[in-house]
Amino acid sequence: MLQSRVCQILGIEYPILQAGMPWLANAELAAAVSNEGGLGLVTPTAGLGAQGDVVSNLRKQIHRTHSLTDRPFGVHIFLGVPNVQNLLEAALTEGVKVVVTSGGSPALHTGYLKDNEVKVIHMVASVRHAKGAEAQGVDMVIAEGFEGAGLRGYDGIPTFVLLPQVVDAVEIPVVASGGIADARGLVAAFALGAEGVHIGTRFAATHECVAHPAYKEAIVKAIDTGTMVVGGRRMHARLLKGEAASRLQEMAGGNALEDERWEALLWEQARAALLEGRLDEGIASCGAGAGIITEVLSVAQVMKMLVEGYNEVLSRLK
Ligand SMILES: Cc1cc2nc3c(=O)[nH]c(=O)nc-3n(C[C@H](O)[C@H](O)[C@H](O)COP(=O)(O)O)c2cc1C
Repeated sequence: MLQSRVCQILGIEYPILQAGMPWLANAELAAAVSNEGGLGLVTPTAGLGAQGDVVSNLRKQIHRTHSLTDRPFGVHIFLGVPNVQNLLEAALTEGVKVVVTSGGSPALHTGYLKDNEVKVIHMVASVRHAKGAEAQGVDMVIAEGFEGAGLRGYDGIPTFVLLPQVVDAVEIPVVASGGIADARGLVAAFALGAEGVHIGTRFAATHECVAHPAYKEAIVKAIDTGTMVVGGRRMHARLLKGEAASRLQEMAGGNALEDERWEALLWEQARAALLEGRLDEGIASCGAGAGIITEVLSVAQVMKMLVEGYNEVLSRLK
């Protein structure tokens, strides 16, 4: 049985979390995942116009998710944004019970969220950060390996080695993230001690995801060498290989790009690629697991493939 403390804590059937991907993780996607027994996550930028307001958009997305599912779902808040307190307040007043945080210190907001009876899940890319998050009282951590899409940890530790070390270092449940795209990855994550998985790229290539068809098609077409990591002074991001990523790499040449400029670029140009399909102009985050993904599926098909495949892979191993 695919069960763990993650299911108990979050009140979900299967310990499968859909990543709160910027621009893409909207109510339709999150509700579809939650309705299939996983945990859907919405993000403040989901489907937003270039000039849109993230706080009101987050409220709208949460409201709509409530109307599409009566199962648990959460929001993903990137702690590096200036209006983070407004976003957290919006989530709370709209009745959100699970918040995933990343890109900042869990010391700043965990207490506030816990005081409001919210389950807090913090994303970490090192053992030190996992221990720090546990000390701040988060309910679980997501250990995000270098294989995953988008911004990556400074030290580039892959999921396969990060995960067991984080599992050994903390008492709270650990959710694996980065490179998990099918049931083999799910079983491997559990074998390494994870009690749940957090999946981005596989859910981006679903019918329910608002991503432009050109981006979904690019995921499907990507082979094992289809992504690259572009780095700034300290920041890295895993992107689809192509003109846009190469141009960014040139700009970041010699690690000259300041983190702030780098984040701004990612922010400004990601929408063009993900929502408008302008892959040569915009920045398309994509996990290395894209090579495993061969077709756009429905969320129900992805969940079935993971849940049923989990038992099939296990029986093959016996
Ligand atoms: C299209 C897309 C955009 C993403 N953008 C960001 C981002 O801006 N910052 C970030 O920290 N993670 C970002 N992520 C990473 C996800 O939150 C998640 O950690 C990751 O997708 C998990 O790895 P996987 O893609 O191999 O499943 C993005 C993922 C996708 C697919």
